[in-house]
Amino acid sequence: MLTVSQLTSLQAILPVDRIHLDANMCKRYGQDWTRYTTPQAAAIVFPVSIEEVQALVRWANVAGVGIVPSGGRTGLSGGAVAAQGEVVVSLERMNRIDGFDPLARTVRCQAGVITAALQQFATDNGLYYPVDFASSGSSQIGGNIATNAGGIRVVRYGMTREWVAGLTVVTGSGEVLECNLGLAKNNTGYDFRHLFIGSEGTLGLVVEATMRLTDPPPATTVLLLALPRLEDIMAVFHAFRSALTLQAFEFFSDLALTHVLAAEHATAPLAERQPFYVLLELEAPTPDAEEQALQQFSRCMEQGWVTDGVLAQSQQQAKALWRLREGISAAITPFTPYKNDISVLVSQLPVFVTRLQALLTRDYPDFEVLWYGHIGDGNLHINVLKPVDWALADFQHACEQVNEQVFALVAEFAGSMSAEHGVGLLKRDYLAVTRSAADIALMRGVRAVFDPNGIMNPGKLLA
Ligand code: MLT
Ligand code: ZN
Repeated sequence: MLTVSQLTSLQAILPVDRIHLDANMCKRYGQDWTRYTTPQAAAIVFPVSIEEVQALVRWANVAGVGIVPSGGRTGLSGGAVAAQGEVVVSLERMNRIDGFDPLARTVRCQAGVITAALQQFATDNGLYYPVDFASSGSSQIGGNIATNAGGIRVVRYGMTREWVAGLTVVTGSGEVLECNLGLAKNNTGYDFRHLFIGSEGTLGLVVEATMRLTDPPPATTVLLLALPRLEDIMAVFHAFRSALTLQAFEFFSDLALTHVLAAEHATAPLAERQPFYVLLELEAPTPDAEEQALQQFSRCMEQGWVTDGVLAQSQQQAKALWRLREGISAAITPFTPYKNDISVLVSQLPVFVTRLQALLTRDYPDFEVLWYGHIGDGNLHINVLKPVDWALADFQHACEQVNEQVFALVAEFAGSMSAEHGVGLLKRDYLAVTRSAADIALMRGVRAVFDPNGIMNPGKLLA
């Protein structure tokens, strides 16, 4: 709760109708998609300008109140959870797209622009914004930047980082910085833009960004393949990637398929079920390329890596196949999944997944464990479902025990303990799996420079 004097000084910055203290709003805006932490926001505020954000940060420094920057709150690591009486700064009213530069192929977005709105803007202007994921209808550009969002086309276009030409940020000490000015070339020392990308709101708030756009992709072909063995998946990846340009290379397990089919009231796409499926989107601008895709499919069948497959015959079929992959996360949300989001080098994946499968079968005999993810990036989402009769705390505790083993394996393979979901609260205490002690000490130092009073997203990323 804010004290009377904290509230009075806050009301001097924003009109009262943009300061919300009621329990419903505090609950709604005080959490993201994670359900492992109880939200405890003191207030939700809605600035509409950079000046207001700056005034809020200055107020927080004087009042000694933490700030949680808030975008679409679709995160999965608790990075946008206000768990200790912070003020949530929602940037949703700063949602203007302007400053389109067709020659530079960049566009200026305020932080609260919805990802899908930027995608649509690009399309309307004959261009393409390629970062895409299931939550693009509600996630916001500022949040995507703060978490360096990935998604389904990283194998072709990279993460959000690749698409940020410039940033306007308000640092934790209340300075407004223009980072990189939207330039294509600017070799003038430390590029703070890259510090803010993926900083999870711990250095300041991203308030505006200049985003890069590109050519629309050529015509594509979508295939779904069934695989008896996960360890063959990289052979399939190699076969298709050597012959064609991949737009996406995703996978999921049969258990994941079962859940998504049930949630979507859909029927299985292939007559025969196998333990794993790969969903590929290939650039196929010519009949030759389609022929190439079919040749690679036959080759994978001959090798026994793949036993069946379907090639979408229309846009509608392609969309339906994609639903099977993109619908998984929502389908399992009611089971309060314990999520892992790990990655290793793609060259290490066959050996890594063999070891991981053995470990999970041994240590999770009683829980449903689903596999899916962006396997073309070496990124696996392992989701353990909570049985209805288990208390959340007991379930979390049981999963954390196994997690120790999973992360030991990730460390052995020099992988990442959070490939795309970020660190937030949920993964914070595991940072040392992937980052060295020297790294972490320097991260603390950087944080102290930008946020000397520790008001920015306290407790996230670093303990
Ligand atoms: C996905 O790949 O579907 C998203 O990262 C969400 C999730 O992991 O549940
Ligand atoms: Zn993902």
